[in-house]
Amino acid sequence: MSKTSSHATSVIDGVDIAEEISKFVKLKPSKNELLGLCPFHTEDTPSFYVNPQKRLFYCFGCQAGGNVINFRAKIQGLSNADAIEALGKDYNIKLSGSFIDHQSHYQVLETALHLYQNTLKQSIEAQNYLQSRDLTAGSIQAFKIGYAPNGWQNLAGLKQINSKHAKELGLIIDNAKGGYDRFRHRIMFPIYTHHGSLVGFGGRSLGDEKPKYINSSESALYNKSRILFGLNQALQNQQKQLILVEGYMDVISLHQAGFTGAVASLGTAFTASHFQLAAKYAESIVFCFDGDEAGQKAADKTFHTILPLVRDQISCYFLTMPRGEDPDSFIKNNGIEAFRAKLTAARPFSTHLLEHYPLSSNPSLEEKAQQYDHLQKLLNHMPNSILKRLIIEQIPQLSNNHKPIRASKSSEKPNHNMRFIELAFSYPELIISQKDSLKQYLAILPSTVQLAIQRVLSNPQTSLAGFLTEENISFTQNTHAVNQAHDMTEQMALHEISGLLTHYQMIAVEQKIQEHMAMIEQNINAKESSEILQKLLIVKHGLIKKKSLLAKSEDL
Ligand code: CTP
Ligand code: MN
Repeated sequence: MSKTSSHATSVIDGVDIAEEISKFVKLKPSKNELLGLCPFHTEDTPSFYVNPQKRLFYCFGCQAGGNVINFRAKIQGLSNADAIEALGKDYNIKLSGSFIDHQSHYQVLETALHLYQNTLKQSIEAQNYLQSRDLTAGSIQAFKIGYAPNGWQNLAGLKQINSKHAKELGLIIDNAKGGYDRFRHRIMFPIYTHHGSLVGFGGRSLGDEKPKYINSSESALYNKSRILFGLNQALQNQQKQLILVEGYMDVISLHQAGFTGAVASLGTAFTASHFQLAAKYAESIVFCFDGDEAGQKAADKTFHTILPLVRDQISCYFLTMPRGEDPDSFIKNNGIEAFRAKLTAARPFSTHLLEHYPLSSNPSLEEKAQQYDHLQKLLNHMPNSILKRLIIEQIPQLSNNHKPIRASKSSEKPNHNMRFIELAFSYPELIISQKDSLKQYLAILPSTVQLAIQRVLSNPQTSLAGFLTEENISFTQNTHAVNQAHDMTEQMALHEISGLLTHYQMIAVEQKIQEHMAMIEQNINAKESSEILQKLLIVKHGLIKKKSLLAKSEDL
């Protein structure tokens, strides 16, 4: 880690962004956030939000946004490095490199890593274990594998550890005596983001002790659905083909065997966010599943997760290991070339889709019709693409049903509901983080959108396709929009969601206006109604303004 980036983290962790921004902007609480007039553009309705938990600011008007360093840099015209230094001075944060007293989360992780790497060098037992798993010294070094020694205070007892942060990271467990080490007598795999910052650890027991793996907690730094273990190395190797596997050892074994595109979602389901992350960098993904029942379930789940996401720029393949094998054991038992052959023979997504409901050897027309009906439903979840057209060409019976989406009239009028639902499932974290403000809107949202939000909140792993199938919603309008969703940043998605919410607010206000106008016309509670009408017209005016601001910032 470079000095500047560790300084940046200390500043981001150490400065209360709300306190800093309050020096320049008058902020008012608005649910979990703070709201004020944007200092970076002229406005008279506040659209500048500060999120103290996330340590971020964002303006819906001009889309300025970022962390406290970006704020100070922008408001005073400084470089980021100068802003870091200025903030460090203002808030008395030590940026000297010696990190007694004020260890950020980041530094706690680095200290732990250091400890684990050092103790591995001293533990013959841990070294023997790694040897028994055929890991080379090169792999141990490349993946910075370490060993958490047996004992309760090896990490917790270190003076420089900020134990509050270590507890938040799930490295130390709290107790009356101030805490003890969570990872004891385990092989430690550090987990890095694709940019190479350390965010957590997975620890494996050396023998058969349960649980086999424990992982450090999700934290401000570690968001499981955003991490693919091994991706930083894959990117360093400029891999265009990613091999998605299940576990730590699979990734490391494959890298060691020369398959440096191996990455893992680490025992959690592969989500839409994982796909978006992978698709940013890769031209193809081979999804590789263990040869057991769980592996088959995972394959099916992944298929449905990626169905609404696949696009022509990234080809997807499926590969299942023989029964009882995972990629690590497969290579060990069958060799590198056998794995290469498996990779080459991996089943394309399109084949997987077409064979999803296999026909019996001598199918009746009824059976065929049923199968085509199933296929049609799957295809309805796929965004418009060349691949989709090619698949349809394979089964002429389907082509008749298929209307090119762009030619349909409905595509001229954007389908706000479907778009909202797509965004909700593509950016579940966003929905979760905006939960409180979204709940205020629930009543004015159409029922399908409400349902989608509630589903994402109760089960963020649900895929768009899964949701649509369960709720029996047909995915016919404007599906090409899904394509565009992947290249969006979270901020852009938030921006679009905010636009959609304004749209629904507008509809609700319009409706109220109509109601009160009718009441005035019929002379029912006319005085009261005209007062309410006045207020509604002001709200409407505000919404029109907000809409035009949002549209303007889209054009930038
Ligand atoms: N996993 C986990 N917690 C567990 C079991 C598994 O987090 N109790 C995650 C780990 O990331 C693990 C992955 O799921 O690597 C796959 O699990 P499994 O197939 O059981 O383990 P392997 O990766 O095969 O581990 P090993 O080869 O070390 O036995
Ligand atoms: Mn294994």
